[in-house]
Amino acid sequence: MSDAILAGMPGYPAVGAPEIDDEHAAFESMLRRLCATAEQKDAQAAANVLGALLVRAAGHFASEERLMLQIRYVHMARHTAAHRQFLAQARTIHNDLCNGGLEPAVSAWIAGAPRWFNAHVEVEDLALGEALIAARAGR
Ligand SMILES: [Fe+2]
Ligand SMILES: [Fe+2]
Repeated sequence: MSDAILAGMPGYPAVGAPEIDDEHAAFESMLRRLCATAEQKDAQAAANVLGALLVRAAGHFASEERLMLQIRYVHMARHTAAHRQFLAQARTIHNDLCNGGLEPAVSAWIAGAPRWFNAHVEVEDLALGEALIAARAGR
């Protein structure tokens, strides 16, 4: 992967719950692959990676939502809605990508996906991680 691609990927904070952080690392590496395939204008590869990313995202979101249920997380509705919105958008983009290739709107969504992920981790997952750590410490 080129330095330009890496430099365009802002970082995201660790949330402090190992099961979430491990899944985030895997998720981010798929996002990097997705951006690389789009930059290379390889629509077929991008469609394959986005298809796999959809499966991984659904699994990751479900595991966060299981943790939220376990600790009766107060912001569960808001956080879950953010997951659903991302999945709905990603499914639409995947369909568009499969049917029409890397049109500008599809490429723009892909280029912005790492920013969505970083913002989601900073706003939602970090707060969930803090609540998990507090719950596990009995606070
Ligand atoms: Fe997450
Ligand atoms: Fe999340």
